[in-house]
Amino acid sequence: MKKIIVAGAIVLAVGLGAWYWYAYYPVTSSLTYQAEPTRPADWRYLDASLSIDERVEDLLSRMTQAEKIGQMALIEKNSISDSTDISRYGLGGLLSGAGARPDPNTPAGWQDMVKNFDTYSRRSRLGIPILYGVDANHGHGNVPGATLFPHFIGLGATHDPELVKKIASATAKEIAATGVTWSFSPTLDVATDPRWGRAYETFGSDTANVTDLGVAYMRGLQEAASPVLAAAKHYVGNGDMEWGTSINKNFKIDQGVTRIDERTLRATHLPPFKAAVQNGALSVMAGLNTWQDKKLSANSYLLTDVLKKELGFKGFVVSDWYGVYEISPSPYRSLTTAVNAGVDMVMLPFDYKSFSLYMNLAVDRGDISRERLDDAVRRILRAKFAVGLFDRRPGGDLSTLNSPDHRALAREAVAKSQVLLKNRYQTLPLSKKTKRIVVAGSSADNIGRQNGAWTIEWQGVDGNWFGGTSILGGIREAVSGDTVVEYEKSGTIVNNPQAEIGIAVVGEAPYAEGWGDAAHPELSKEDIAAIKKLRSISRRLVVVIVSGRPVDISAISGDADAIVASWLPGSEGAGVADVLFGDQPFTGRLPMAWPL
Ligand code: BGC
Repeated sequence: MKKIIVAGAIVLAVGLGAWYWYAYYPVTSSLTYQAEPTRPADWRYLDASLSIDERVEDLLSRMTQAEKIGQMALIEKNSISDSTDISRYGLGGLLSGAGARPDPNTPAGWQDMVKNFDTYSRRSRLGIPILYGVDANHGHGNVPGATLFPHFIGLGATHDPELVKKIASATAKEIAATGVTWSFSPTLDVATDPRWGRAYETFGSDTANVTDLGVAYMRGLQEAASPVLAAAKHYVGNGDMEWGTSINKNFKIDQGVTRIDERTLRATHLPPFKAAVQNGALSVMAGLNTWQDKKLSANSYLLTDVLKKELGFKGFVVSDWYGVYEISPSPYRSLTTAVNAGVDMVMLPFDYKSFSLYMNLAVDRGDISRERLDDAVRRILRAKFAVGLFDRRPGGDLSTLNSPDHRALAREAVAKSQVLLKNRYQTLPLSKKTKRIVVAGSSADNIGRQNGAWTIEWQGVDGNWFGGTSILGGIREAVSGDTVVEYEKSGTIVNNPQAEIGIAVVGEAPYAEGWGDAAHPELSKEDIAAIKKLRSISRRLVVVIVSGRPVDISAISGDADAIVASWLPGSEGAGVADVLFGDQPFTGRLPMAWPL
């Protein structure tokens, strides 16, 4: 009897499995091709002369349920074990999580990789091109050889939307050249707490400034000659999470709870998103934070009622990283909750096969309505048409990466982002004819530190492992031939120690996301010691602080004659020297409060 039950159970399980397999998997396999097929000329969505809405509706009307579901998936590229899955599942987008690179990790390597993925998407029945997304937070930072601009906190100090738009256009050019079509930027968070490890990813704490610069950046990406889709993030209130509330045991603030009332949320944090929507936002990323007991990706009030209905957002909502799957222990419930709340594209179903199963089941059962499915896909397609994916192939002229005009623009931005915090005895600007300058500090000769995180690696790289001009290099370039510049990191200058000017370039080591949450951002003991040493041997002392946020400098502020907040200037350290030596004036203003 027992044997019969076991045998029966096996037969049932195999039968169910086979039925499932037949019903749902491989979802579109019969509709993929070895090469891109020729499509009938009367498929109207292929006609570039029609309006976007006409093309979207025509395409949508041709899509199967499985093809629609595929469009809602955004997959980290390292999860794609077989590139034909891109066509088989009709995936909507791929991304390189920070640091996820091609081999070789060169601009040409990037272009080959993205083109190759793109080719597979065009081999599907309908040939809907994928979006390829990266976090280009301060230039195309994943790619060695790209121009690295100041992080947004530094751009926040410029208070200059025109400059920010130019930077976004230049960045778009470099991104598009490598074939990438989507950047998860700009960050529109209004940072209220410098202890947050992502403060530097924001334009600061002033809502109006964040709004102006954020919109300028978004437009710079989307209105470039080869447009790059922008993602306004992280919707909403992500800059106002409470210390100690993170759901990640390694973090303190990041991925935490935004414990503010709706009035404050609307007054402080919503305006940048409202302006982004008014200026043509095509994608918005939902934050990993929680508001009123609901994770943002499950918050239908904020995603659907406020963003889509009240603000009239016509683009698509993408969830952030694994956020959707943090809604509930059940992936099925997580997905249905998020999609019904208003998430249109789900980032990171690492396992896109089960995503496809769950989503098909949810639509079949009516847990997600067909109208909601169509709405989500319509929004995604609209964005794809708007940035021209159907009418061009990815990739362009790679010589635009790090071109002299982009580097000059970055250098200009660096100079405009420097903020003069203190200047007694009119120490600055310095004379280029100063006889002897001694330089010290952890960030003086460290291109990795001046770039911060989201540079080559997610957490950045400490040291001179890639190109650019260090701040020390900029100082050496700026001075006259008669000036002696001596550098020793710790400030131990042995030969003839007396100097007219000491310059200590100190600051933070790179960090990203919650790994940078810090109870008390401050200078390291080594940097403080270096400053004290320079003080004892220099007639005048300048302290340059390379940091992603205001740090406590009370231990050294009395020692310094001049103090400069340099933020995270990027690859063009010479821009710092431009203001130190008076080639450019100091025009930067604090983007967030810095108690001295
Ligand atoms: C971050 C996002 C980023 C995404 C993709 C997440 O960890 O919160 O800002 O866009 O990763 O890299």
